Amino acid sequence: MFRLQSLGTEYRALIIGNSGALGKAFCEHLRNDPGCAGVTELGRSTTPAVDLEDPTSIAAAAQSLAHQAPYQLIVLTSGLLHRQGVQPEKSLAAIEPEALQAVFQVNALGPALVLRDFLPLLDRKGAMAVLSARVGSIGDNRLGGWYAYRASKAALNMLVKTAAIELARQSPHARLLSLHPGTVQSALSLPFRGAAAARPASQAAMELLSVIDRSLPADSGGFFSYNGERIEW
Ligand SMILES: NC(=O)c1ccc[n+]([C@@H]2O[C@H](COP(=O)([O-])OP(=O)(O)OC[C@H]3O[C@@H](n4cnc5c(N)ncnc54)[C@H](OP(=O)(O)O)[C@@H]3O)[C@@H](O)[C@H]2O)c1
Repeated sequence: MFRLQSLGTEYRALIIGNSGALGKAFCEHLRNDPGCAGVTELGRSTTPAVDLEDPTSIAAAAQSLAHQAPYQLIVLTSGLLHRQGVQPEKSLAAIEPEALQAVFQVNALGPALVLRDFLPLLDRKGAMAVLSARVGSIGDNRLGGWYAYRASKAALNMLVKTAAIELARQSPHARLLSLHPGTVQSALSLPFRGAAAARPASQAAMELLSVIDRSLPADSGGFFSYNGERIEW
C-alpha cells in the first residue's frame, strides 16, 4: 500500500492545479494514503479559486486557507505548453508577444506568487514541490525550439532555488523542490509526444511522491527527475 513516510502521521496536503492529469493523480494517491489526514484541492474551478493569470486570486486563496495551516505537503501541478493562440515555437520567428506572456505568467510569474503566498502555510518540517520540466534545463538544451516554455521553466527553477535559500533560513528542515515528471499522458503532452513513451499520470505522480518522500533538507532548491536523479540547470 502507498504510504508517505517523511511527513509524519496525519499529514495534510494541498494540491494547486487539481484539474490536470498529474494534479488529479496526486490528489487520488494522497486521498488513498492512510497517513494523509486530508487533501485540499485548488484550481481555477474550486472555491476559493486559484488562477495563475489572476494574482489577486492567488493571494485571496492563500489567505482563506491560512486558518487551516500548516500543511505538511504542498504541490503546484499546473502548467501551460499550448492552448488556443499558444503553440510551442519552432523558431525565433514564431515568437508572439501575447503567447510568450501567457506562458511566462502560468509557468513562472504565477508560481512566484504561489511561492510568496503559500510557502508561509508550509509546516516547518514539510515539503513543497513545483512541477517543472527537463526542457527548462539550460545545460540539457540540445534541440532548441519551445522558447517560451523552456525559458519559463528555467525561470521557475531559479525562483524555486532562490526561495529555497530563503526558506532554509527560517525552516532548515523544510524542503522545496523543482520536479520533472517525465513524458506523461495528458492534454499538455498529447500533440507533441510523437514516438516517446508517455507514462500514465498515476505512475508519474506516484514516482514524484516517492522522490519528495526520499528528499532531504539538503536537497531543497534542487531540480530532480521522477527517478530521483538530479537534473543539471
Ligand atoms: N505531461 C508531460 O509530459 C509533462 C512533461 C514535463 C513537465 N510537465 C509539467 O507537469 C505539469 C502538469 O502537466 P499535465 O501533464 O498534468 O498537464 P494538464 O493535464 O494539461 O494540466 C495542466 C494544469 O494546469 C492548469 N492551468 C493551466 N493554466 C492555468 C491558469 N491560468 N491558472 C491555473 N491553472 C492553470 C490546468 O487547469 P485548467 O483545468 O483550469 O485548465 C490544469 O490543472 C505542468 O507544469 C507541466 O509543464 C508535464
